[in-house]
This record gives sequence, C-alpha cells and structure tokens, in this order.
Amino acid sequence: MKTTMDFRKMKENNEKIVMVTAYDFPAGRAAENAGVDIILVGDSLGMVVLGYDNTVAVTMDDMVHHGKAARRGAPNTFLVVDMPFGVCHLSTDIALLHAIRLMQETGAQAVKIEGAGDMLPLIQKLTAAGIPVVAHLGLTPQTAGVLGGFKVQGKTASAAKQLLEDAKRLEEAGAFMIVLECIPHQLASEVSIHVVVPTIGIGAGKGADGQVLVYHDLVGYGEHHVPKFVKQYSHIFPLIEGAIRTYTQEVKNEQFPSEVHQFTMKEEERLALYG
Ligand code: KIV
Ligand code: NA
Repeated sequence: MKTTMDFRKMKENNEKIVMVTAYDFPAGRAAENAGVDIILVGDSLGMVVLGYDNTVAVTMDDMVHHGKAARRGAPNTFLVVDMPFGVCHLSTDIALLHAIRLMQETGAQAVKIEGAGDMLPLIQKLTAAGIPVVAHLGLTPQTAGVLGGFKVQGKTASAAKQLLEDAKRLEEAGAFMIVLECIPHQLASEVSIHVVVPTIGIGAGKGADGQVLVYHDLVGYGEHHVPKFVKQYSHIFPLIEGAIRTYTQEVKNEQFPSEVHQFTMKEEERLALYG
C-alpha cells in the first residue's frame, strides 16, 4: 500500500496519481485489481448509489457502512473516506470524534474535508492527531446550495486568486493532498505549481498531479446525468438491464432454470418419499 509520502514523491517525479471512488465490495475489488493508487469512498455515494439529488442527506452511518464494504474489497489500497455534510462544522472536537470513527471503523488511511477557511484549524488538529487529511476546493458539493448549484468555480481573477490562496493555507495547515473539482484548467495548473502537496483534479484539466472519477460515471452504471468532465470508459447499465430482461423472459417461458441449474435426488430416495 502506498503512503502519503509516496504521493508526494510521485508528484516530484511527475508520475500521475490515479484515484477512483468505490462504495462497495465489488467496486473496491475491481479498483484494487486494476491497480489504482487511491480509492475514495466519496459522499457522491448519496447521488450515484442511494439516489439522492445531492450529498446533503449522506450520514456518518452511510459513510461507515460503505467504507467498510469498499475496504473489504480493497484491503491493500490507500483508502480515503469523505467526512459527510455538516459533521465538520459544529466544533473541531466533534469533527475529530467523527474522523476517529471513520478511521477506526473503515480502516481508512485518510479522511477528506471540503473547503478551507473555517476548516484550517480542524485540518491542523486532525493532522496533529495522526489523521491524514485530503482537502477539497473548487466545486464543493456539500455547499452547492450556497454556491448556487453544480457550477464551474474560480472563473474570475478574484475567485481564482482566493482559491490559490486557500490551497496554500490548506497545505500550511497540514493537508497532504488537495482535490480540485470543476475549475478552469489554467487555475488547476497554477495551484499545482504553487503547492508542494499533490493535487487531484476532477473537471480540472490535465495540469493536476492526479485525477479522480466517480466509479458509476467512469463505468457507465446508472441513468444519472454525467457531467462534461467525465470520460465514460464503458456503459454497463444497458448490459445489466438486458441481462435482467432476458432472465425475466426465460422464467416466463420456462427456459430457466434448465437441467444444468438444478439438483437431482437419487430415484430410490424419491420413491421413499411416499413409502
Ligand atoms: O464524493 C466524491 O466522489 C468526491 C469526488 C468527486 C472528489 O468528493
Ligand atoms: Na465528496
């Protein structure tokens, strides 16, 4: 399993870092078998697995439940689990308790926290407590309601300047990695040059030190809207639907189950049924 130090070295050596999300056992297994560097149990879980419109409804229990499942599928891959909506905003002590729970119950190597500003003292505290923190800037879905929707961030000079400043502060506070979501590629490149810690882009162009995609978007699993920045490497949903449709037909017309799918008892035992 790689370490936070390995990711920093990968950046120094211009070796791209690959992250993908996973929320259950088979996805964790597939990601580990495919050789990704990091698995993120993202709260995007709420949208692509649980069917919510956003990530606000996702709870700590959801994160623990799915984090454990992903971990069982990927015991040897660096695992990051998202701190869900709200839990970081009551106090640093309460947030620390939640982060400890995520680390201990899922076996994660790190937690991810959206935002800078108010989150800086918390990131300091978690890092001091031995909990590595991934930061998340740009489009931060947990505050989409305040941002006015899922929109590209950092497009104006002043917004870009703020984001660059936030990235530097996050690095100072101890974040070992920064996710940059949905920002202009020039800004992502600029940030990546100005911080020592690796950046992981999603909708942030090729200048980031690594990339992350949501599992269901990447493999085409679901009917949800897929953002412009996603590349779909397969479309498994129609295959699944087709399989279930064929199964339905075969049960109806008694093609399934056939002899190969059934068990047989000895004839004398069958006759003894009535004896
Ligand atoms: O929840 C998630 O999947 C994320 C990634 C998009 C970075 O936070
Ligand atoms: Na997330």
